[in-house]
Amino acid sequence: MAARGGFSSRLGFILAAAGSAVGLGNIWKFPFEVGAGGGAAFVLIYLSCCFILAYPVMIAEIAIGRKTQRNPAGAFSALGFKNWSFVGVLGILCGVTILSYYNVVAGWAFGYFIEMVQGHFEIGSKFGSFVSNVAKVGSYGLIFMFFTTLIVSRGISGGIEKAAKILMPTLIAMIAGLAIYSMFLPHAMEGIKFYLIPDFSKINFSVIYSALGQAFFSLSLGMGALITYGSYVGRKENIVTSAAYITLADVGIACLAGLMMFPLVAFNNGGDMENIQSGAGLIFQTLPSVFESIGPNLGVIVGSFFFLLLSFAALTSTVSLLEVPVSYVVDEHKVERKKAVWLVALIVFIIGIPSLVGNGYSEFFSNFITYVGADKPTDFMTFIGHVANDSFLPLGGFLISIFVAYVWKKKNLNEEIEAGFESFKGSIVEKYIDFSIRYICPIILGSLFILTVLGRFF
Ligand code: PFF
Repeated sequence: MAARGGFSSRLGFILAAAGSAVGLGNIWKFPFEVGAGGGAAFVLIYLSCCFILAYPVMIAEIAIGRKTQRNPAGAFSALGFKNWSFVGVLGILCGVTILSYYNVVAGWAFGYFIEMVQGHFEIGSKFGSFVSNVAKVGSYGLIFMFFTTLIVSRGISGGIEKAAKILMPTLIAMIAGLAIYSMFLPHAMEGIKFYLIPDFSKINFSVIYSALGQAFFSLSLGMGALITYGSYVGRKENIVTSAAYITLADVGIACLAGLMMFPLVAFNNGGDMENIQSGAGLIFQTLPSVFESIGPNLGVIVGSFFFLLLSFAALTSTVSLLEVPVSYVVDEHKVERKKAVWLVALIVFIIGIPSLVGNGYSEFFSNFITYVGADKPTDFMTFIGHVANDSFLPLGGFLISIFVAYVWKKKNLNEEIEAGFESFKGSIVEKYIDFSIRYICPIILGSLFILTVLGRFF
């Protein structure tokens, strides 16, 4: 097999994996899910999902990747279970699907950065015409895909790791800076209160399921992204602590993003948190007017800063999304990396066209499907988001936990973990991971998948 490359340091791996995790999910999606799900009540459920369910699956994914040094599909075969490679294939398809629409939103973020630099604050009220201007958002999407491709084509240590080492610290500094700034705005306290004081009356099954779906999406789990990144990690690494750092970084940044967002929203609404904008518009419609009211010069700086930050966050995630199918093509079809990267990126961009045109430009893709019981149709991008993020990621997590607990078995998982963590055996962490992967993950993730599918489509 051709040399696959690998991360040059533990920190590089952690930053790249945290870069995959931290993305639009944290800064764009998390705040509006919090808004819809009862503020802090959602946050508490989300945190439990991350640590009880997602963290053990993350360890399992990294262990499978490191043991086999293969892409998600090849990994299952390499362990000797060829009929399980469908789980990897499913993951790769899921990754391609997510990237196809994720890149569209990343293109919006990048486009907004360009608009903010020019002081076009009115863009927030023109969100609808912005996203339906296919030539414009298509070009931004193409540029974004180009950046992603450039990084991935440089390989693991020279591309993905290097980019993460620059982008991640910058991103954290930017979010922290903006969070501090926004806390000094008028009405900031109302926003913080909404975010930190739980309203349990808003909690229902659907909120719990979206918290779980969000946990998997945000931690990049269930589709083999961490099998892929794990395949570039050396055997001396301590997977248990690395996964803990990655989870903490992701959760920490999502929480910080909330601290940044809600004061801004409260400022915009004059302290009224009852009627906050939800959905995609929270960032793209509300924030430009917030930046405008900060003042013309400072507003340009803060606004450009914010959308640049959002673009950086998205970039380290699109990089990991692209690496998953690329690693498959390189490993299994022996295509040279550079060629594989450009080819896959082109295909993904084309697959993304329905998402691109489904935001007002094309009538058909904008009103793609009407769910059972819904009063209006759902656009294509939201629809495949539901299929991929809310259904297939938990399904992937379910299958991975079943595989590890009952097929590959605890002994092999433990052996892989112990290679970099001698005292793992007999520790409380071992018992906790074993229990979660054996019982909690299969039961909850399996039922989540069934209920989501039943609820939406039947
Ligand atoms: N975790 C990313 C986010 O929160 O934006 C999205 C993502 C990236 C999902 C990579 C899955 C993945 F494999």
